[in-house]
Amino acid sequence: MKREQWGSRAGFILAAVGSAIGLGNIWRFPYMAYENGGGAFFIPYIFAMLTAGIPFMILEFSMGQRYRGSAPKTLSRIHAKFEWLGWFQVGVAAVIGVYYVAVIGWAISYFGLSFTQGWGSDPNSYFFSEYLGLGDNSPTNLGGIRWGIALTVTIAWAITYVAIVSGVKSGIERASKIMMPILFFMVLMLIARMAVLPGAIDGINYMFKPDFSKIWDVKVWAAAYGQIFFTLSIGFAIMLAYSSYLPEKSDITNNAFMTVLINCGFSILAGIMIFSVLGYMAEAQSKPLTEVVSAGVGLAFVTLPTAINLLPAPYILGPVLFFALVIAGLSSHISIMEAVTSAVIDKTKWRRNKAATVVIGSSFIVSMAFVTNGGLLLLDLVDHFANNIGIMVGCFVEIVIMTWLFKIADVRQYVNSVSDFSVKEWFDICLKFITPVILAIILVTKLKTLLTDGYGGYDLTIGWIMIAALFVIGVTINLTTKQQEA
Ligand code: ALA
Repeated sequence: MKREQWGSRAGFILAAVGSAIGLGNIWRFPYMAYENGGGAFFIPYIFAMLTAGIPFMILEFSMGQRYRGSAPKTLSRIHAKFEWLGWFQVGVAAVIGVYYVAVIGWAISYFGLSFTQGWGSDPNSYFFSEYLGLGDNSPTNLGGIRWGIALTVTIAWAITYVAIVSGVKSGIERASKIMMPILFFMVLMLIARMAVLPGAIDGINYMFKPDFSKIWDVKVWAAAYGQIFFTLSIGFAIMLAYSSYLPEKSDITNNAFMTVLINCGFSILAGIMIFSVLGYMAEAQSKPLTEVVSAGVGLAFVTLPTAINLLPAPYILGPVLFFALVIAGLSSHISIMEAVTSAVIDKTKWRRNKAATVVIGSSFIVSMAFVTNGGLLLLDLVDHFANNIGIMVGCFVEIVIMTWLFKIADVRQYVNSVSDFSVKEWFDICLKFITPVILAIILVTKLKTLLTDGYGGYDLTIGWIMIAALFVIGVTINLTTKQQEA
């Protein structure tokens, strides 16, 4: 069967950018920056972007394009022993896909609510009590399904399904070509409005004001690296799958630089937008800025509705803001599920619509766990393990294989032979030394913290079982493939 291909270079870049720009840029990035030292966070963030993000993107684009397969296929073509790593990364993508869709579902609900500010005057209690129905639940005591949320999550799944079933060129590329210009237009419009609100400049200053006391904290570096890998969709099977649809001999370096720089530039713009709103809120409520911000998920579903209540013309700005969040989320969700679907197609040789129906049908069922009363707590726990352990382990092992077991200079030579411009030895140094050493320090520190302090007061059994299961599944598939081939 001939491998599908992107219709044009612009189509590929839009799809890669669509995958990269997601919920991670609009609500995760500003909060990360704020929490980890404001302006000081940008030093590890830019360092991670330059020494890990760009070279890793070049590496993944070259692997996908050269070996022409999803993550397991590509890794098994590099060496039959490494197929397991591809499946581990596909597993991490599948896990992220089933909870990521829940957040898109919330965003769809809030898009609907925003026309009339249906969250009322107390968005905090609306979100947690009325909307999620979060009582004394926990990740192991989820309560019942919230049917309203199940409906919006189903809408999100249906859009992802249609894009994937329609194929790389007519589905994913077409969806990205429609969604990305709309997203850019809406965010620019929002910034133009928000940045001139009274108090906005104080908010922006707040985001960029450096707190250098945090710069030597491993936690800040871990946050910056975690954010870079998640936001660039690298190390969890996505960019390998997307670049496997590139025509042979396509440029790699220029495409990788564009994808990374557009994504990280967008994050900074989204940060400016969010912090302008927070600055305005602080001024409107005569409170210090620290008191108007609420953490993580809350930033999008508590702080933004509170801000929208205060904005002039809330019935216009509110829907535009949530529509942007929905679009950013959907284009990333499509890429996450494509990473899984393409692996299944490569392995089983099923037709695309059969593979998509099986993958999306089963993921849909699993995702219902996240639309329960306690779904948010399960999401928080699973997200923590998927990002901090799953993605990090996947990246670390991939880098070690490609730079220590094989010659990274050969990769560079291949990249330079097809690209618009050449990369020099800095590429080898970043991937062979700097990134693996920093990732190893971050991983060891994280494991130690999880084992000694835990996370969020949860029982972490589910998280550990999940990581172990992904590993066992990957190794088992790898071993059966070897037996069949023997
Ligand atoms: N890269 C995607 C995001 O940032 C997954 O949301």
